[in-house]
Amino acid sequence: MSQTVVDPLARRPFGKTGLMVPPIAVGCAPLGNMGDTFGYDVAEEDAVATILAALDSPIPYIDTAAHYGDGESERRVGLALRERGGLPGNAILETKEGRDSTNDYSGETVKRRMERSLQLLGVDRIDIVYLHDQEWTTFENAMAPGGPVEVLQKFRDEGVIGYLGVAGGPVPIQMQYVETGLFDALIHHNRYTLLNRSAEPLIEAAAARGMAILNAAPYGSGMLVKGPDAYPRYAYQQAPPEMIERVRQFQAVADRYGVPLAAVALQFSTRDPRMTATIVGMSRPERIADTLRYLATPIPDALWEEIASIPYDTNDPEANRFK
Ligand SMILES: NC(=O)c1ccc[n+]([C@@H]2O[C@H](COP(=O)([O-])OP(=O)(O)OC[C@H]3O[C@@H](n4cnc5c(N)ncnc54)[C@H](OP(=O)(O)O)[C@@H]3O)[C@@H](O)[C@H]2O)c1
Repeated sequence: MSQTVVDPLARRPFGKTGLMVPPIAVGCAPLGNMGDTFGYDVAEEDAVATILAALDSPIPYIDTAAHYGDGESERRVGLALRERGGLPGNAILETKEGRDSTNDYSGETVKRRMERSLQLLGVDRIDIVYLHDQEWTTFENAMAPGGPVEVLQKFRDEGVIGYLGVAGGPVPIQMQYVETGLFDALIHHNRYTLLNRSAEPLIEAAAARGMAILNAAPYGSGMLVKGPDAYPRYAYQQAPPEMIERVRQFQAVADRYGVPLAAVALQFSTRDPRMTATIVGMSRPERIADTLRYLATPIPDALWEEIASIPYDTNDPEANRFK
């Protein structure tokens, strides 16, 4: 009997746009050197080396944001792109625009930051730009004439932006934007992992519209790859003890099959046909090879069956983060 061999690195359609993208994007939040968010600093040299390694790999797909380190992540991505003489033809670049450091989320701010992104990245066009973290504004403000969405649409109409998306956390807020039908793509984060699946209704809604769907933070910001002893945090905050206990249960199953837990966490996302790409954050060049290895690790069906019997959360993992 013939068996279909699926190439885990095959590019996937970016929703209905016609663009094809690698199944993994390199998440550049850690490159913004955000000690408060991740709990550690990242040197510029490591950041640039990570981007160069990504550009030389089968996953030359860069996901950054104006907000990451208030331009620092984009500046460092820009250094790497300049070293390569610009964005290579096979690479995909995406960024996100939203509030500034004073939490101003007006149309003028989004315009100013979009212009800064182009400058820092050293490009005159960006493949995909997302409206970022709309929990920091209201739907009415974002959609108002001259507001953030209209500003980004204008850049798209001028050809400076290829496609528009929305990227953020809280599911009910994201749902409002998905339902407008104005966006090609959705990024959600920390809400579709082994530990938390609260994005399920949002994913269904976006899939029904044929949007590209990007699952960010498959390791829940790091614990599912670094382990709960080295990194007992989930979604940028201390993880509760019962969650850490569940990571140990997942770890025990993975160990029994001789599979790294990180491979299970990553493939939990990449094997889901609804996900266009999975965004993995990293700040060292050797992470690229690790990621490719985790992506290609064979995982038996019996392991997935055992994993399915371990409970997961469906609440908002960041509900108390900003209180
Ligand atoms: N609102 C939004 O749009 C939004 C929100 C969240 C995330 N995102 C995007 O999604 C990306 C992913 O999210 P995330 O970075 O928060 O979380 P993540 O991908 O779940 O985890 C990132 C962490 O995993 C670690 N890691 C990755 N590969 C590793 C390996 N092979 N070995 C050991 N450690 C490894 C990284 O450590 P090192 O730094 O030490 O490499 C980093 O601390 C972000 O970078 C960002 O681009 C977007």
